[in-house]
Amino acid sequence: MKRKIAVLPGDGIGKEVAGGAVEILEAVAERFEHEFTFEYGQIGGAAIDATGQPLPDETIELCKSSDAILLGAVGGPKWDSQPTHLRPERGLLKIRKDLNLYANLRPISYFSSLSEASPLKQEIIEDVDFIIVRELTGGLYFGKPSERTIFEGKEAVVDTLFYQKEEMRRIIELSFEIASQRQKKVTSVDKANVLESSRLWRETAEEVAKNYPDVTLEHMLVDNAAMQLIRNPRQFDVVVTENMFGDILSDEASVLTGSLGMLSSASISVDGPSLFEPIHGSAPDIAGKNVANPLATILSAAYMLRLSFGMEKEAEAVEKAVHSVLDSGFRTIDIAGNNTESLSTEEMIAEVKAALLNEV
Ligand code: NAI
Ligand code: MG
Repeated sequence: MKRKIAVLPGDGIGKEVAGGAVEILEAVAERFEHEFTFEYGQIGGAAIDATGQPLPDETIELCKSSDAILLGAVGGPKWDSQPTHLRPERGLLKIRKDLNLYANLRPISYFSSLSEASPLKQEIIEDVDFIIVRELTGGLYFGKPSERTIFEGKEAVVDTLFYQKEEMRRIIELSFEIASQRQKKVTSVDKANVLESSRLWRETAEEVAKNYPDVTLEHMLVDNAAMQLIRNPRQFDVVVTENMFGDILSDEASVLTGSLGMLSSASISVDGPSLFEPIHGSAPDIAGKNVANPLATILSAAYMLRLSFGMEKEAEAVEKAVHSVLDSGFRTIDIAGNNTESLSTEEMIAEVKAALLNEV
């Protein structure tokens, strides 16, 4: 099959790990006789330096004409003092909005060979396997007004949590669809004891649930969910929540697997190409040192193969290669623990590629 992939490496380690995922996709094309073409676009700080904009129009056009998008990460101290509309993160918010990327999926699963990398007890994280479905284009991160103001003569500020009911319905529906293919349980997370938006969210979830009689719906307040994720994460199958709660809970959940460097994500579009990226940022503290863990991005590429291209056996081959490399004891610095030697980014990519091409 022929597929065109837009690659947006971004900043910091984004460039190092995106390059690794491209190498693995090239190896997939070789082994399974597909034709993948890669076209590169700019986003984030790199785009600001080159064009003055965190997300130039050419990048949007490139994405719209591609079958899927692979993103590294954006940001870094160099751009921290820029005005808000010229910060690298604006590029991320804009690409989500412009491409209608309404649903962010973050699978959280246990890597048996990495149990020592998590600060949590083995008996808590063992066999954890759930997915967080985060609403990505509404809520507090996009609501207007969002500004400094003066209230009763004194300095004040306002952010707005705005949702249309339809935006809630489509993400909740997606979570039920996903749950139907898994353990048939949806945990809807909200703050319905305080927020009106959460009360509408809860009502909408109840309405959607009527169409999925074989899926169990449970509601959980976000503060309790934050605790349950660490106390008893095996209770979850599909967790669905609004934008900000999902942002916070999914970073928290990453602790279960040991390292941010292991977690992939997909952002699904309503009507166009979907975007795949690691959940971590540009890691300025290790950027340029060839030590970043490329596995989150490689696993995001596997996710692309599965969700955007329907290439299930190709996706499984990549995942199997990653697991076999870990089982063989290969580690980058973030998952090495104290007494293991660690591989560079490039060495880790080479190991995964070799495992992929040598599999039968
Ligand atoms: P970060 O995820 O970049 O790094 C947090 C910590 O995890 C650092 O110590 C880093 O070295 C480590 N880490 C992250 N990914 C790793 C990997 N693949 N291998 C090994 N270690 C890894 O988050 P931080 O430091 O809060 O943000 C740095 C910059 O990234 C900021 O400018 C932030 O705005 C941006 N950012 C961008 C995101 C994106 O592009 N989607 C997401 C989160 C942050
Ligand atoms: Mg985050």
